[in-house]
Amino acid sequence: MKVIKNPLQMQKIALLTAKKGKSIGFVPTMGALHEGHISLIKKSVKSNDITVVSIFVNPIQFGPKEDFSKYPRPILNDKNICKKNKVDFLFLPDADNLYDKNYSTYVEVNKYSQFMCAVSRPGHFKGVTTVVSKLLNIVMPDNAYFGLKDYQQYVIIKKMSADLNFKTKITGCPIVREKNGLAMSSRNKYLTPEYKEKAGNIFKSLLKAKQDFKSNKNIKSIAADIKKSLNKIETAIIDYVEIRDWQTLEAAKQSTKTVVIAVAVKIQNVRLIDNIVCSK
Ligand code: PAF
Repeated sequence: MKVIKNPLQMQKIALLTAKKGKSIGFVPTMGALHEGHISLIKKSVKSNDITVVSIFVNPIQFGPKEDFSKYPRPILNDKNICKKNKVDFLFLPDADNLYDKNYSTYVEVNKYSQFMCAVSRPGHFKGVTTVVSKLLNIVMPDNAYFGLKDYQQYVIIKKMSADLNFKTKITGCPIVREKNGLAMSSRNKYLTPEYKEKAGNIFKSLLKAKQDFKSNKNIKSIAADIKKSLNKIETAIIDYVEIRDWQTLEAAKQSTKTVVIAVAVKIQNVRLIDNIVCSK
């Protein structure tokens, strides 16, 4: 596995790889790799000739009061995970390499960036779509893999890629969960074992909601039930519980056939998100 820091060098490798007729799979990450990331890497390695993983804790997607400076950065462990899982290139740019002093270009997907996580994290998705555009231009992958835990992020990136004619196929990969159902996340490290266990109830409430949706229960009552059960978790502060069309992310109607039920909740002041796609 080669570690590349310089964006120009990464771009040259990508061009050379394409010239040789080889496909590139790409897994963009912010590091602190866990089983969820590993599932994306495995999928990329299986379906492409070359796999590139990037690790970059992107400052512009964090709000001023968010956890940018304390975001976990276990780089040695991350490198070992990449090596072990047959990553060909690990792209590790510095913030100065990607955003110079005069940096002034941003990418925003308007329609999808005004609700759900966007409300409590203003500017977050603009930061994500800007960095992902830059990374796609540098790595020029045929395929890029994103975890469906960040469902809104996935939909926004897919839309951005289509709108801006990126050649990359955007693939969403299933959520990987802890034994108790808690969706894997780099932020789970901030929870004490006791609260990690309690946080398993998020997924339990989503599973119940899925059953209720299937039986055509009123969607407002479904959302209310989820809120009720999340509120039973000590320290929980609900950010949102939303039921939306799984493709357009428009607010679901009772007649919507397939929805995503998405939640964001702070437990021990750790912001956790999760979702489930349900059909009637
Ligand atoms: O999902 C993430 O880890 C990040 O938002 C991403 C896509 C790597 C952009 O920084």
